[in-house]
Amino acid sequence: MRTHVAIIGAGPAGLMLARLLELAGVDAIIIERRSPDYVLGRIRAGVLEQGTVELMDRAQAAERMHREGHIHHGVELSFDGDRQRIDFSALVGRHVVVYGQTEVTRDLMAARQLASIYDAEDVELHDFDGKPYVTYRKDGASHRIDCDFIAGCDGYHGVSRRSVPQSALTTFERVYPFGWLGILVDKPPVAEELIYAHHSRGFALCSQRSLTRSRYYVQVPADEDPGAWSDDRFWDELRSRLNPETAEALQTGPSIEKSVAPLRSFVAEPLRFGRLFLAGDAAHIVPPTGAKGLNLAMSDVAVLADALIEHFIEGSQAGIDGYSAKVLNRIWKAERFSWWMTNLLHTFPDTGAFGRRIQRAEFDYLASSVAAQQSLAENYVGLLG
Ligand code: APR
Ligand code: PHB
Repeated sequence: MRTHVAIIGAGPAGLMLARLLELAGVDAIIIERRSPDYVLGRIRAGVLEQGTVELMDRAQAAERMHREGHIHHGVELSFDGDRQRIDFSALVGRHVVVYGQTEVTRDLMAARQLASIYDAEDVELHDFDGKPYVTYRKDGASHRIDCDFIAGCDGYHGVSRRSVPQSALTTFERVYPFGWLGILVDKPPVAEELIYAHHSRGFALCSQRSLTRSRYYVQVPADEDPGAWSDDRFWDELRSRLNPETAEALQTGPSIEKSVAPLRSFVAEPLRFGRLFLAGDAAHIVPPTGAKGLNLAMSDVAVLADALIEHFIEGSQAGIDGYSAKVLNRIWKAERFSWWMTNLLHTFPDTGAFGRRIQRAEFDYLASSVAAQQSLAENYVGLLG
């Protein structure tokens, strides 16, 4: 088999890249390790920046998102029960759309016209400094795909980044000493907008998927066993971290999913190695606090798609040569914002009395300064350029 672009991974990054290339008439094949059902079974975040919404439009996969997604004009921050709304629309004239990443994935899968290879085992990348090709096994048989470029969109644990010689790669990492215990429940959200809460017992987040389905999180130790958390224990803990009014309004019910996600900041540099590119979680991880993971993956592949289209349609090399520097600039700004939100809202083992006062001062500053609110708002809705 032969294609222009072999895309490793059918997460949102790989699927969006494939779709943008397909619409431009550039041939690409997706090679994914899991089955479509497995990919669609993963529960992930659900806040879309305007740039991501526009990319879904460009991908002609936006119809359901516009119908079922909810526009959010702001979020609430809560600090030891004191509340502060951040009004995105008033502060920066933009908003976000709440629509599950799983649904984004489903819509992109449905939009794709060309075939993708799922259930591919032992995917390997070869010779990306020369004439690249990808090998894999499926149903007991070995396969080879020759290509001009490989796009590594296979997430943090994928094979693409691991295929690069160690000496060619610099990585930057911060592992946080806690995780998020999340539950999904078929009850209406506690509030119209998301609530990010700091409390001395730890961070909590009230999020949502629809008018009837909610997603809640509480900060727990990184190695926490979700099995140790009955639904009742979860609801009690969540309520204790919210302001009394919100706690009172919370509608609880049996959880339909419960899991712990670790928090990590990670960036690899550079993101191009000859004819191999890294994009999305394969290239970087942010803690979920700023809701940047999906959006960053989407902005990477928007740049990569344009670079590849420019190459194949116009014969220009400029986009390809500029890819790594261009996306890393945005990636580091999103890393900074996610790190900052994480620091403001969580309790760290070494925060201490001084650190708590600094967090409180940061919250009070946000509550009293339009400039500080604007800074949060423009980052949350997605930086322009
Ligand atoms: N070969 C082929 N596919 C692989 C391999 C492999 N060796 N390893 C992983 N994959 C697949 C995974 O099964 C997954 O479907 O690559 C895909 C990567 O998808 P994601 O992890 O969703 O990563 P990405 O598309 O970059 O999306 C980023 O997802 O993890 C969240 O917070 C993150 O919201 C962000 C978004
Ligand atoms: C979610 O709904 O899962 C969610 C929302 C906002 C975040 C993180 C996760 O910052």
